[in-house]
Amino acid sequence: MKTGLLCLCILITICTSASHQRRKFPEDFLFGVSTAAYQIEGAWNEDGKGENIWDYGIHNGVGNIVDMSNGDVAADSYHNYARDIEMMRELGIDVYRFSLSWSRLLPSGFADNINEAGIAYYNRLIDELLKYNITPMVTLYHWDLPQKLQELGGFANPLLGNWFEDYARVVFRSFGDRVKLWITFNEPREICLDGYGSDNKAPFLNAAGIADYICAKHLVIAHAKAYRLYVNEFKSTQKGKCGITFGVSSILPLTDSEEDRLAVELRRQGDLGIYTNPIFSKEGGFPKEFAERVAMKSSEQGYQRSRLPEFSDKEKEFVRGTSDFFGVNHYGGSFLSATDGIDDRVPSLNNDAPVAYHTPDDWPKSVSSWLMQMPNSLNITLARLHADYNNIEFYVTENGWSTYKGLNDDDRVRYFRAAWESALDAIEHGVNLKGYMAWSLMDNFEWAQGYSERFGLYEVDFEDPARTRTPRKSAFIYKNLLKTRYVDHDYEPENYIMSIDEGH
Ligand code: NOJ
Repeated sequence: MKTGLLCLCILITICTSASHQRRKFPEDFLFGVSTAAYQIEGAWNEDGKGENIWDYGIHNGVGNIVDMSNGDVAADSYHNYARDIEMMRELGIDVYRFSLSWSRLLPSGFADNINEAGIAYYNRLIDELLKYNITPMVTLYHWDLPQKLQELGGFANPLLGNWFEDYARVVFRSFGDRVKLWITFNEPREICLDGYGSDNKAPFLNAAGIADYICAKHLVIAHAKAYRLYVNEFKSTQKGKCGITFGVSSILPLTDSEEDRLAVELRRQGDLGIYTNPIFSKEGGFPKEFAERVAMKSSEQGYQRSRLPEFSDKEKEFVRGTSDFFGVNHYGGSFLSATDGIDDRVPSLNNDAPVAYHTPDDWPKSVSSWLMQMPNSLNITLARLHADYNNIEFYVTENGWSTYKGLNDDDRVRYFRAAWESALDAIEHGVNLKGYMAWSLMDNFEWAQGYSERFGLYEVDFEDPARTRTPRKSAFIYKNLLKTRYVDHDYEPENYIMSIDEGH
């Protein structure tokens, strides 16, 4: 009897771990890769393209790029897009997420002058994707504002919403017959906090604790304008979906003290909630505790009104509920503890919602200072968002790991396998996750880090005028996942020759 029980236990254990290993992604789950216009296209002044804030900032020495590089040529996808699509066919992906360059389509930013060569380029790209059954997922804004609009204040100008709506109309009209998945903005926090609240990203404005908050309000209104435009003028005929993508890290309190818990919650509101609450929460507008904190700090600091702008009831209503899905760019996470913020700039988000970051020594580190592999972090992130904003459809629109150049990227393989298991955990958890896109198809211009940090499944030779692309080990591992739909931890490619399989 005892032996029988023991055997049964062993059997159950074997079955559970076997089925655990064989957990599969659903058949209709979409796998893809992501890129962004300024990071890959190059052709910065070709065929009528206008100047954007990265062109201007780098050419005029306003932005500091570690290797003194820029995106003038980048991976030269403007000329190599056919090879890019060949790579997607090699991988066997379902979706390609890329962004449109606003200043390639509307050189001055305004809709009076449409650059037909820009329209033709994206038409070629979209048509080539569709020819091979690859679904385009198109981001309207991935950080490259036309420079003229920046001179008018960019995201600090309340008219930004009108400019973005006019641009969106041109885009939906030109491509909406074939594009069914739209993302208005990529990573609002990085646009506002890094671009307006620091000098890390264009427009390198560095007016912390003020400009970043003004940007947040105007950005979500611009998003809502584009969404409502889509719903009112295009959705019934084009039948697509329109959403927005946020950069979301896993942040957990270091201890179970009330102090750490509150510090993390307040920081979550300042980092993420000021962008997501207006759109996804029931009450709309900026998160309450964070708004109260900034109002209090502002008054202590001698400001006559809060540095965080308010939403009128009409604005709250206008923005609330304006997204068909929630896009998540996820990379890593950390533990946070409460601090007093005394050492931080005044004013700033760090001072308004101060926290200290902790990462255990045994977490694998990438070559990016901010990116460490937190165990099961994708699931932690998605589970929390699922609890906050129930019944929303999620797409992981970016997930990836940085290395130095080199084809043998075992670190990336280890990271990806863990992330895919974590995505499966989230699905088991009941998260309505519809798709996953790896960042990135190929090496590209990594903003202030230039070409020093590589995120590509394919390596790009930036010394070579042809910008040759070569698959890394991770490309073969991703391809195998897409084929089998489960994470095979033992899979080793037989050879490192990439080819296009039947049906792609
Ligand atoms: C998120 C951004 O959207 C993308 O542009 C960037 O390259 C990756 N993170 C990696 O840092």
